[in-house]
Order: sequence, then C-alpha cells, then structure tokens
Amino acid sequence: MNRKIKIGLLGAGVVGSGVIKTLAHNPSIEIKKIGVKDLNKKRDLNGYVDKSAFTTNINDIITDPEIEIIVEVLGGLTPTKDIVMQAIQNKKHIVTANKDLIATYGAELFDLAKKMGVQIQFEASVCGGIPIINTLKQTLIANKFKKIIGILNGTTNYILSEMLNKKMNFEMCLKEAQREGYAEPDPINDISGKDVAYKIAILASIAFGERIKIEDVFYEGIEKISLADVFLAEDLGYRLKLIGMVEQEESGLLDIRVHPSFIKKNSTLASVFGANNGVLIKGDLVGELTFIGPGAGSMPTASSILGDINMLRAQLASSKNPNPLFVCQHSDYAKIKPISETENGYFLRIQTEDKSGVVGQVGTIFGNADVSIDTLTQRGINPDGSASITILTHVVKEKKLQKAISEVKKLNTIKQVENVIRVLE
Ligand SMILES: NC(=O)c1ccc[n+]([C@@H]2O[C@H](COP(=O)([O-])OP(=O)(O)OC[C@H]3O[C@@H](n4cnc5c(N)ncnc54)[C@H](OP(=O)(O)O)[C@@H]3O)[C@@H](O)[C@H]2O)c1
Repeated sequence: MNRKIKIGLLGAGVVGSGVIKTLAHNPSIEIKKIGVKDLNKKRDLNGYVDKSAFTTNINDIITDPEIEIIVEVLGGLTPTKDIVMQAIQNKKHIVTANKDLIATYGAELFDLAKKMGVQIQFEASVCGGIPIINTLKQTLIANKFKKIIGILNGTTNYILSEMLNKKMNFEMCLKEAQREGYAEPDPINDISGKDVAYKIAILASIAFGERIKIEDVFYEGIEKISLADVFLAEDLGYRLKLIGMVEQEESGLLDIRVHPSFIKKNSTLASVFGANNGVLIKGDLVGELTFIGPGAGSMPTASSILGDINMLRAQLASSKNPNPLFVCQHSDYAKIKPISETENGYFLRIQTEDKSGVVGQVGTIFGNADVSIDTLTQRGINPDGSASITILTHVVKEKKLQKAISEVKKLNTIKQVENVIRVLE
C-alpha cells in the first residue's frame, strides 16, 4: 500500500482542477502528466502543479509505461471515447466522471476492459459528490433493488427551486443559473432531461444487473414548465421536480424514465433544493435510503474521483486481479417498458374559451377514454378572455390519457393544452 502510483490526468477544467488541487501534496499519488486542449489558457493552479506536467499530446499520456491510471475528465464523446478505448488497449485503468461516455458506450468499454484485465471506475459520473455507485455495487450488494428515484441534475433543480422561491419564470432562472455558474453556456443536455437519462441509465444498469440502451430511456425536460405549474403543484399538495426513476416489474421489465413530476410535498426528495441532488433507493433488505448532497462542483466531484483512485491503488498494491465487485459482470440488455404503457396520475392545464358547457365536454371525453378525474377546477378568466382549467387525474395508463388529450384538442372550445405533468405517488 506504500507504493507510489502515477496517474495521467486528461482535462484540467472544473473537475480536473479539483483533482489537481486535492492531489497537490499527496505523497502516494503523483499526477505525472496533464492533458489539455490549450496550453496557454490561464489556470488558477499556481503552487499546485508544475507547469511542465501540462501537454496537448494525449497519446504521450496514455502510452506512458509509468502511468497506471488514466483519470478522464475531458467530457463529451468525441474524441474522448477513442482516447479511453486506446488507454484501455494500453492496459491503463480508467477513472472517469463522464456519464455521457459510460451511458452511451459502456458496453464496448467494459467489454474491452474485461479483455485487457483493467477496471473502469465512474463514481463521479452520477451525482458528483454523493457516493452512490460504489454503494450500489458493494455495500448494498445483498439487496434486491425495487426502485431508484432521484433528483439527479443540479442545474434543473436550481432553476425549479428559484422559480418557486423567487417567483421568476423559467428563462430568468436559467439566465441566473448561468450567471451563478450552475448552468453551462449551452444548457441543453441539462434542461432537456438528457443528462438525467444518462445518470438513471447508469444507476439502473448497476442496480438491476442489465445493460441499458440509452436510446430506450424516455426523457422529457423542464423547458415548458411555467410558474403556474410550479405554484399549482404547491396548491395541490405536491412539488414540481425533474425526476429520474427506474423500477423493475415482476416480469423483469424496467420502467425507466425522466420527466418533470409532481411529487408529494412532504416527501424527502421534495426538500432537496438548489443545486443539490437527492437519490432514494428501495432495497428488499435495507428498505428506503435517501442520499442528499452536492451533485456537481469541483471539489465534491474530485472527492468521488479520489475515492476511485484510492480504491484502485489499494487493489493494485495487493493484487493484479481486479476486485470482481467492481468489474462489470453483465452482458444482457434490459427490456424497457414503453412510456405509453406506464401508469401515473396526471396534472393538466388547459386553456379554453369562456363558454358554458366546456367543462362538461372535457369531463365527458375523459370519462369515455376511461380516465378518472380526481379534481377539475376552473381557475378564473385570463386577461385575453380565455379560461384556465386544471385537471388532476387518478392513476391511469399513459396511452389512455394521451387518447383523451387528442380528443380534447379536437374541441373547438379548447385553445390549447398548455402542459401535462405526471404525478408520482
Ligand atoms: N463540472 C462538474 O461539476 C461535473 C460534475 C460531475 C461530472 N462532471 C463531468 O466531468 C467531465 C469534465 O467536466 P468539467 O466541468 O471539468 O469540464 P471542463 O471544465 O469543460 O473541462 C474540460 C477539460 O478537458 C480539456 N479538453 C477538452 N477536450 C479536450 C481535447 N480534445 N484534448 C485535450 N483536452 C481537452 C479542456 O482543456 P482546456 O482547459 O485547455 O480547454 C479542459 O481542461 C465531464 O464529463 C462532466 O460531465 C462534471
């Protein structure tokens, strides 16, 4: 365990800088080389690392015979996937924070790693500083998992929290999140729900022991969420959150999806505010566990990366064989339930003409489609003379609800179905 280990760091951005600072005076782990795109970029790393460690020659890092572990914090898929594949070919162990990479190309990468006898560790790829992946792989291994549900994206949770706290609309909160550094200049992966799809696919794959095709994961983002949705949720006893969830049915089918959701206001996840993440796990032995904490950021993410590096270092000191608990063991693909077959309650906000009989027409269509309404409320007249109706349904199959919506849209008294949000009990 006293053996000093040399690592190659690919990337010195938000996460890479955290790794550099954390390892600056570590006697056991040396960052031998650091790969970046721009050698002239100003970096706030004086005193933490020698400038001579930086290079743009990535190949020089992944072929260095002294380097045993490659820490990949470049991000993205291209050229990252090729770089990581080559590093594995060169028998380097990989530590990565890249959920896009693991969720999209995990199968290829893990197969190659197995062949080459090296490991890929990716604790930092889901929920930044929350130790969720290795907890599922090791500590909770005796459990049969039933469900994982979480707030897995700090950017969107920050935006929804600010909408609620400051009564500012989505666009204003997004701009504020960008100003505060909680959202990327191009926030599309976050606000579209795609980032959460990557993360829930990774968690599902570990918990349920099957590979997930990322294109099979349904995702919907928060772009259409209005202040009305946020506050009506509160009025009805719920809170609006972007939720990633996966649940296994008796048949083995996985219900895995990402969408804005009304969740009970008194639930633990409803109290996860700001850029924090929260994950609830249901296991048959342990019951319910909830983890809450920073889902991103330089130091929290470095904390997870350092955990992986130290785990690998301990293993390399004692044996050349990887610990089987940390090696991908599965090769079958999960069968995913189509979103049309899922069952949820639904909240709908519909803009209608202010005419008598409209509410009755809508109620009849829902009844005919076998969609049972819990509450239907007309919420006054809008400045343009239209009326707003909100509906909360009982739990129903999504395809029945969609049929009812398509019929409602045909009514000439309906101006628009403004939003439809799933309600999770
Ligand atoms: N930011 C977070 O809080 C967070 C949390 C969890 C996971 N992650 C994941 O961690 C990874 C890194 O995120 P980040 O926020 O640290 O990104 P970042 O700030 O954009 O840093 C990326 C780094 O990679 C370097 N780089 C990018 N493409 C390169 C190429 N083709 N060749 C050489 N160097 C290249 C950049 O070099 P230059 O510096 O020269 O431009 C930069 O140092 C991503 O996969 C992200 O999803 C991030």
